Amino acid sequence: MTPQRTLRIALLGAGSVGSQVARLLLEHGEELSERSGARLELAGILVRDPDAPRDTELPRELLTTDAEALILGADIVIELMGGIEPARSHVLAAIRSGADVVTGNKALLATHGAEIFEAADQVGASVSYEAAVAAAIPIIRPLRDSLAGDRIVRIFGIVNGSTNFILDSMDRDGLSAQEAQRIATELGYLEADPTLDLEGYDAAQKAAILASLAFHTQVSFEDVHREGIESVTADMIADARRAGYVIKLLAICERLSDPEGGVSVRVYPALIDREHPLATVHGGNNAVFVEAEAAGPLMFYGAGAGGVQTASAVLGDVVSAARRHLAGGVGVGESARQSLSLAPIGRITTRYQITLEVEDLPGVLATVAGILSEEGVSVATALQTVEGEDSATARIVIGTHRASEQALSDTVARLAESSVVQRVVSVLRVEGE
Ligand code: NDP
Ligand code: HSE
Repeated sequence: MTPQRTLRIALLGAGSVGSQVARLLLEHGEELSERSGARLELAGILVRDPDAPRDTELPRELLTTDAEALILGADIVIELMGGIEPARSHVLAAIRSGADVVTGNKALLATHGAEIFEAADQVGASVSYEAAVAAAIPIIRPLRDSLAGDRIVRIFGIVNGSTNFILDSMDRDGLSAQEAQRIATELGYLEADPTLDLEGYDAAQKAAILASLAFHTQVSFEDVHREGIESVTADMIADARRAGYVIKLLAICERLSDPEGGVSVRVYPALIDREHPLATVHGGNNAVFVEAEAAGPLMFYGAGAGGVQTASAVLGDVVSAARRHLAGGVGVGESARQSLSLAPIGRITTRYQITLEVEDLPGVLATVAGILSEEGVSVATALQTVEGEDSATARIVIGTHRASEQALSDTVARLAESSVVQRVVSVLRVEGE
């Protein structure tokens, strides 16, 4: 039965994700309307240039550059433009005009989330953002609703699809970083500004959103320790492979159990044992482990980037927003009732792998071991190799026991200055053990 009521949908953006949302809304309109309880009418699509060539054919009459008129007449506004402005102003205008908002914009939520959720609370509107973290994987709603009665201890996983695609293609297919990045761009995985992915900003924004939900604490993007994959080389990936590891860009949000307490939220590339489930997350996929006190460990896995995959999460939010719009009442607000302190990275302890090039002389290994011992960093494994009989250089790979970030950085600084060390090749954390 065709529903009586019509809800007008304004779509802001027709790029990788927006064009797929528009296509599915038009192709599956009847089915989506039946599920929502109202006819969902795509009222218009905001773009910069309506006449620009597009991969997905969209009705020309729906494309517009008039944001104000489009937003003013809408019941639901889907924001898929990306970036901060004008996305922020459009989202706030939509909320003020009484519309419900659906967005996939993690950059916006991780920096202006508090302002947007407060504006929505004031008028009882809903802001839904399942697509903002881990694309097609349902992770926002499980954290916000399904696990609302539990106490989350840790979130650990891969939340950026493009960097996972790049690292995986380098590891498994031997592609160069540039070639892997070119393919990821073609697949629609990268942000409009790819440095957001490569330098870990995108993953840090997602970590801030996940931590805010998990710990009921306002965590902003600036609170997140961030390192990207720009310094990961083909040699480091080959070294990791030889040692039985794979390099993954990880996001970790955890409650700290030391007496100072608080939470740590961080993003960095790390070594993962090749037997670990995260090592088998290939291509543009993401995987997120959630550890909750009562539920125990949970794993969420699937497509972490891509236009049509992300459109699935967006449309799920649209159906929910439509149902809420029809039912009336207030949208589900954000819960930021706690204010746990954010721990600096120096308080974190983990295992490390340090790779050095040293002079191949007697006593060098002892000198290196002495520096680690003086800094309180305990050696778990040490492997020395020399390439070619006449080489004056040896390579030492040291695996440490758990050490604090502070002790580790002091150690690396001393190693770099030591006369026996020619070069600190790499320092990587070892996670997932
Ligand atoms: P794209 O860059 O492919 O598309 C952006 C769209 O917004 C384009 O249609 C562009 O118009 C339009 N747009 C941008 N700025 C303006 C402006 N000032 N005025 C009018 N229109 C504008 O982005 P994506 O589709 O990849 O991503 C959209 C959002 O979804 C981002 O927030 C992203 O982080 C998020 N996301 C993306 C995923 C992905 O896999 N790509 C996955 C999950 C979330 P025009 O076409 O004319 O250039
Ligand atoms: N650029 C993002 C990524 C898109 O690579 O994960 C999905 O959020």
